[in-house]
Amino acid sequence: MKVDVVLGLQWGDEGKGKIVDVLTPNYGVIARFQGGPNAGHTLHFGTTSHVLHTIPSGIFRNDTVNIIGSGVVVDPVIFAAEIKKLKDVGVDCSKTLKIAKKAHLILPTHRILDAASEAAKGKSKIGSTLKGIGPTYMDKTGRNGLRVGDILSPEFMERYAKLKAKHEDMLKSFNFSYDISEYENQWLEAINSLREFEIIDCEYVINDAVNNGETVLAEGAQGAMLDIDFGSYPFVTSSNTICAGACTGLGIAPSKIGNVYGIFKAYCTRVGSGPFPTELFDQDGDKLCEIGREFGSTTGRKRRCGWLDIVALKYSVMINGVTELIMMKADVMNEFENIKIATAYKVNGEITNAFPYEAQAEIEPVYTTFKGWNCNINDIRTYQQFPDELKQYVEFIEKETGVPVKIVSVGPDREETIIR
Ligand code: GDP
Ligand code: IMO
Ligand code: MG
Repeated sequence: MKVDVVLGLQWGDEGKGKIVDVLTPNYGVIARFQGGPNAGHTLHFGTTSHVLHTIPSGIFRNDTVNIIGSGVVVDPVIFAAEIKKLKDVGVDCSKTLKIAKKAHLILPTHRILDAASEAAKGKSKIGSTLKGIGPTYMDKTGRNGLRVGDILSPEFMERYAKLKAKHEDMLKSFNFSYDISEYENQWLEAINSLREFEIIDCEYVINDAVNNGETVLAEGAQGAMLDIDFGSYPFVTSSNTICAGACTGLGIAPSKIGNVYGIFKAYCTRVGSGPFPTELFDQDGDKLCEIGREFGSTTGRKRRCGWLDIVALKYSVMINGVTELIMMKADVMNEFENIKIATAYKVNGEITNAFPYEAQAEIEPVYTTFKGWNCNINDIRTYQQFPDELKQYVEFIEKETGVPVKIVSVGPDREETIIR
């Protein structure tokens, strides 16, 4: 068997959580491969709505093994809170959830370093979720980090104190006041909840599963345009959000990758700073935000909204080797007379189909206008029943990207999903 991958093709919040939950019945193992509690993956069924930050989105389906992979960074406090919330709704993950030894730990001082670094950047701040993601990955690549497997070592507290002292030294260069005592107590207590789970060699477990014919789905966080190497640098996150990140984050070979499900919204959103060529500053933008309830699942921040960007989408499809597209939130555009898609950019007076290198480049999108479907599609359950205008919209995207749109989502609920 091969490992299928679900990932976001835009700037995050495409609806990965919903789709992983929908696809989970087809898989024996679901594994998150990167990111940390900067992610907020929402699952909605019936009257229940649940946001997951660290735990894979297959957790609500009985018997599925859920793995927090080696490429993930874990804040024990947030993890423990997630476990408690799941318990409160009757989900006991003690048997099905496993954590990679090689996943890195987010320390309380990583969070402070994140906040201090953002404050020092002033107007050019990244708009980080302030969960300590950047500093934790910096310690990982700098070869200073603490990993989940280290909590089993008798020297853990000594190593923790050493890294904390290093951070405190670094913090002296920022004029930033902080007090970690309360969070640190919670953190040390939460380390004990981590110890209650099976801590695994993720690469062996996943490769054994694949070799034994089990189906594995890798769940990405963030989106391709936030990738550390290929996103709109420096306004990105600190991990490889793209398909290659599933290989490095889980320990699987590129030849073991099967289907790559690329998820995108029928429009675009972005939370935090950085280039967003199709961003709208008018009533259409406000309407997308209001109807789409575009407020961050992790920070509650208002998401910037704009039209679908085919230039960025084609770039993401290329980088990720997307085999199937999944279009989300089509229903949010039910009440638009006209809908636009950016099919090229004008940069310095020149038409281009490439995403510019410079984060500050002045990009003017070149739009193609479509007639809106102007009706409620939430109750539709087959593609054939879609209004012609929506079919034209979907088929235009397929033609431009060269990839079939296999799923269209028409509402947040599990049931509001059309599989073609
Ligand atoms: P993720 O980070 O990619 O998992 O996405 P988020 O959970 O942060 O944001 C997606 C939001 O859109 C959540 O509130 C979902 O419940 C909601 N959502 C997902 N699919 C649809 C859809 O097709 N229509 C509507 N209206 N909402 C959706
Ligand atoms: P999910 O998995 C949307 C954004 C932040 C900020 C930048 C860097 O729910 O799609 P970080 O905290 O990683 O240092 O922030 O990346 N960002 C996200 N935006 N969805 C996410 O995750 C995000 N995770 C990080 O807003 O601009
Ligand atoms: Mg999200």
